[in-house]
Amino acid sequence: MHRDHHTICIDRVHPDETETLLNLYVDLFHDREPLTKCLGLSRERMIAVARSMYMANANPISRGFCWMARDGNAAMREIGFIACDDPAAESNQPVPENLTDHERERISALLALMEEIRRPGKKRIGSEADKCLHIAAVGVAPGYEGAGIATSLLQKALADATARGFTHAFSECTSIASRKCHEKIGFQSLHCVAVNKFSVNGAYPFSRSTLAICLLWKDLAKRAC
Ligand SMILES: CC(C)(COP(=O)(O)OP(=O)(O)OC[C@H]1O[C@@H](n2cnc3c(N)ncnc32)[C@H](O)[C@@H]1OP(=O)(O)O)[C@@H](O)C(=O)NCCC(=O)NCCS
Repeated sequence: MHRDHHTICIDRVHPDETETLLNLYVDLFHDREPLTKCLGLSRERMIAVARSMYMANANPISRGFCWMARDGNAAMREIGFIACDDPAAESNQPVPENLTDHERERISALLALMEEIRRPGKKRIGSEADKCLHIAAVGVAPGYEGAGIATSLLQKALADATARGFTHAFSECTSIASRKCHEKIGFQSLHCVAVNKFSVNGAYPFSRSTLAICLLWKDLAKRAC
C-alpha cells in the first residue's frame, strides 16, 4: 500500500462498536498472528473467548483503551486496531465460561507463558510508583501493511496513556514487523522467550512452535530518538 493513496482516520472505539472491534480482531488475528495460530482455537471459539473478556465490567473498551483505524477513501472501512489494558486491573477479568478441557488447558498454558514473558518487568507492573500500559493487541489488514499504520496506532495509545499518567508501556511482540514498529518509537527489548522451550509442571505445551516472543518496554517519560 502507498501511504498517499489512503486517508487513514484513527478514533477511540466507542462501547457501541464492541462487536465491530471483536470481529476485526478475529479477522486480523485468526490463522495469522503467530501466537494465536499456536493457540489453535477455531474462529468461533476465539470470538466467544474475546467477547467474554470485552463484555465484562471495566473492560478495555469502556475504559477507553482501544482505537480503530479506518480508510477514509474506502467508505471508512475498518482496517486496523489497537487494544490496550491496565495489567494492574487484569486479575479482575472473568475466566471465559463454557471452555472445553482442551481449550482451558491451552489458555492456562498461554497465561503461564505470558507470566514468564513479563517476568523482567514484574516488579514495576502494578507497583505504586509505576503505572504500566499493556499493549494487548495491534493489527493491520493485509494490503495496508508497511505504511506505518500500526506505528500510528501505537503512538495514539501512548500519547493518551502519557496524558493519563501512565509511566511505562510494554508489549509482547510475536513477529519482526511488530517488534520493528515498537522499536521505531522507542521501545526496547528486555528479553525473548523461545516458546517451544517453555515448560509448565514438566510439560512443554508449545513444543512444536518455532516462535520467539520478546518483551518490549518503554519509559513514557523518554522520547523516541
Ligand atoms: C504486525 C503488524 C501490526 C504491523 O503493521 P504495519 O502497519 O504493517 O506496521 P508499520 O508499517 O507501522 O511498521 C512495520 C515495520 O516492520 C517492517 N517489517 C514488516 N515485515 C518485516 C519483516 N518480515 N522483516 C523486517 N521488517 C519487517 C516494515 O518495513 C516496517 O518498518 P519500516 O517502517 O522501518 O519500513 C501487522 O503486520 C499485523 O497486523 N500482523 C498480524 C497481527 C500481528 O501479528 N500483530 C502483532 C501481535 S504482537
